[in-house]
Amino acid sequence: MRIRTTTEADIPRVAELERAAFAQDALPLVALVQYLALAQELFVVVEGAAGLLAYGAAAIAADARTGWLLSAAVAPEARGQGVGGALTRELVARLQARGVVEVLATVAPHNTASRRMLSAAGLTVQAELPDYFGPGEHRLLMRWTSEGVSTQDDTAGVVCPTPARSAQGE
Ligand SMILES: CC(C)(COP(=O)(O)OP(=O)(O)OC[C@H]1O[C@@H](n2cnc3c(N)ncnc32)[C@H](O)[C@@H]1OP(=O)(O)O)[C@@H](O)C(=O)NCCC(=O)NCCS
Repeated sequence: MRIRTTTEADIPRVAELERAAFAQDALPLVALVQYLALAQELFVVVEGAAGLLAYGAAAIAADARTGWLLSAAVAPEARGQGVGGALTRELVARLQARGVVEVLATVAPHNTASRRMLSAAGLTVQAELPDYFGPGEHRLLMRWTSEGVSTQDDTAGVVCPTPARSAQGE
């Protein structure tokens, strides 16, 4: 398994991974092309022996202080083997190397795999964001800060309705 920066040639496969993860809520190819143009080295893919297994995208806000983990998807057959965790830690390391003082991500409350993946990369739940992505689209805000952990994940029991851009199989 090798993690490397995404190239334009990878985008069609990245779009496949995105569709396999999010179905009708998948980001369109045009958005992925634009993510890559903006994110550059903060857009990574994971290569396995048979091709690309996963992708993840991050970005740095215009204030240059805040990094965002924007999206991640692992091929269904490659999940549960540490791929998502490895790519998330790599993205967090790339953000930290660029000097951000915090890393943020939003996650659907029911998405246990994603929450554990983010926790393992050092992020903790900071807040509930009701209707963040529209009516019923609740999210949790997770955060890593260079000042250290300030809040425990005390929202593990939060139950919210299933969000629209929900990951398949979660
Ligand atoms: C979320 C996702 C990226 C995780 O990738 P992955 O390669 O399966 O994750 P890993 O194998 O590295 O496991 C990460 C953590 O989640 C846990 N986990 C994995 N699959 C799980 C599942 N189905 N249920 C509960 N926990 C799970 C692992 O045990 C691990 O936790 P740990 O570090 O405490 O042991 C992947 O499941 C996926 O692509 N899902 C669909 C898209 C999505 O939800 N993307 C994230 C939101 S944008």
